[in-house]
Amino acid sequence: MCSLCLSSLLLVLLVLCFSGVSSADTVNPTIIGKGYRLVSIQETSDGGLLGHLQLIQNSKVYGPDIPLLQLYIKHETQDRLRVHITDAQKQRWEVPYNLLPREQPPSLTQTIGKTGKKPITVSEYSGSELIFTYISDPFGFAVKRKSDGQVLFNSSSDPKDPYGELVFKDQYLEISTSLPKDASLYGLGENSQPHGIKLYPNDPYTLFTTDVSAINLNTDLYGSHPVYMDLRNVGGQAYAHSGLLLNSNGMDVFYRGTSLTYKVIGGVFDFYFFAGPTPLGVVDQYTSFVGRPAPMPYWSLGFHQCRWGYHNLSVVEDVVENYKKAQIPLDVIWNDDDHMDGHKDFTLNPKNYPRPKLLAFLDKIHSIGMKYIVIIDPGIGVNTSYGVYQRGLANDVFIKYEGCTLLGASLARGCKLSRLPQPENCILVG
Ligand SMILES: *[C@@H]1O[C@H](CO)[C@@H](O)[C@H](O)[C@H]1NC(C)=O
Ligand SMILES: *[C@@H]1O[C@H](CO)[C@@H](O)[C@H](O)[C@H]1NC(C)=O
Ligand SMILES: *[C@@H]1O[C@H](CO)[C@@H](O)[C@H](O)[C@H]1NC(C)=O
Repeated sequence: MCSLCLSSLLLVLLVLCFSGVSSADTVNPTIIGKGYRLVSIQETSDGGLLGHLQLIQNSKVYGPDIPLLQLYIKHETQDRLRVHITDAQKQRWEVPYNLLPREQPPSLTQTIGKTGKKPITVSEYSGSELIFTYISDPFGFAVKRKSDGQVLFNSSSDPKDPYGELVFKDQYLEISTSLPKDASLYGLGENSQPHGIKLYPNDPYTLFTTDVSAINLNTDLYGSHPVYMDLRNVGGQAYAHSGLLLNSNGMDVFYRGTSLTYKVIGGVFDFYFFAGPTPLGVVDQYTSFVGRPAPMPYWSLGFHQCRWGYHNLSVVEDVVENYKKAQIPLDVIWNDDDHMDGHKDFTLNPKNYPRPKLLAFLDKIHSIGMKYIVIIDPGIGVNTSYGVYQRGLANDVFIKYEGCTLLGASLARGCKLSRLPQPENCILVG
């Protein structure tokens, strides 16, 4: 929402962000588990590989380990390799398949306890551009590029490495890859790293989709893009590839210069490797998978004025007028929820933003080619006389937690939790 959130909220969020990424964590990270052992692997009818991983030893931190994992690997296209690891006995949260249409891994009931028709004895599984290789005990996998033999990803650890083996618990997943020193990595947004999109060793990369002002450095922002592009100089030639961890849970990614560790608080490991080898090729392969960007309207590239705190329409009119006086061309003027009646989406404040006056203002700015945007908050105001709230309850559309409608509170919007009518057993989140 706004960029002017309460400073105390920012402070709390900042403290939370930084507490997860102390330098002790990156320099001397805790090795949590002993990893898993590959106990079976077979070919699937769709040309993939399906295996099971068994926990080597329980570790006590962060809850019990998941004892048996299902591993599924597939060369989905000439330049895309998928590595999917999940609980072999229980369905886990994944980015919904209807939101991001993609191939389904074999279902758990189908695979559990089945002995492979075609057990695999070789430890290499080759596609046209990429090769998947693995070590069984402890289990680690690597992805190599066929043409130049470069190892793009390698999850096995050595005793000298500052990271450990695969960890898979209900609320803590960890996996690492070693990287050559001269690899340059870009991505893992959105965040406000002072260096831009190039990854710098020991900078914090937290993906947690928070509404924090971008003024703060080293902070995670609205979006989560758990994908990076790795650019390498191989014998004087530039080679690019990309790794996407398709997981919508919060995560920290630790880049140490010669390794990268994902620490994720839920979901599954669903890796997609895009072979490149050019940066443009990577972007093409990635967007053919996640969806192409929509073309933007030309006017959206113009100059925008947007802020929270325009108390009434006169203030907005003044802002537009003052741009004109200062001879600064203005293409778009925004309202950030000040126009709403009592924080209710799709309404106008009758006193401060009367509809006839707003429409007259819009006619005026439209006539000179300007555009107007209003910010709509995804939160629906709790007010029993509010039609959207009433219809939402009647149609049972709100997110539930333990059977109760989940009430969130954006402090910046001044929601007052104590006034909300709630059945006794409902849980409020702030
Ligand atoms: C991956 O790393 C392990 C541990 O350092 C090493 O033994 C293995 O050879 C590497 N795999 C590849 C394909 O380089
Ligand atoms: C609009 O808001 C400004 C600033 O709060 C105030 O000075 C002004 O009187 C208001 N105008 C109207 C028409 O309400
Ligand atoms: C609900 O909306 C009405 C009409 O806008 C308003 O008068 C009332 O104060 C609101 N109630 C709450 C609890 O916000």
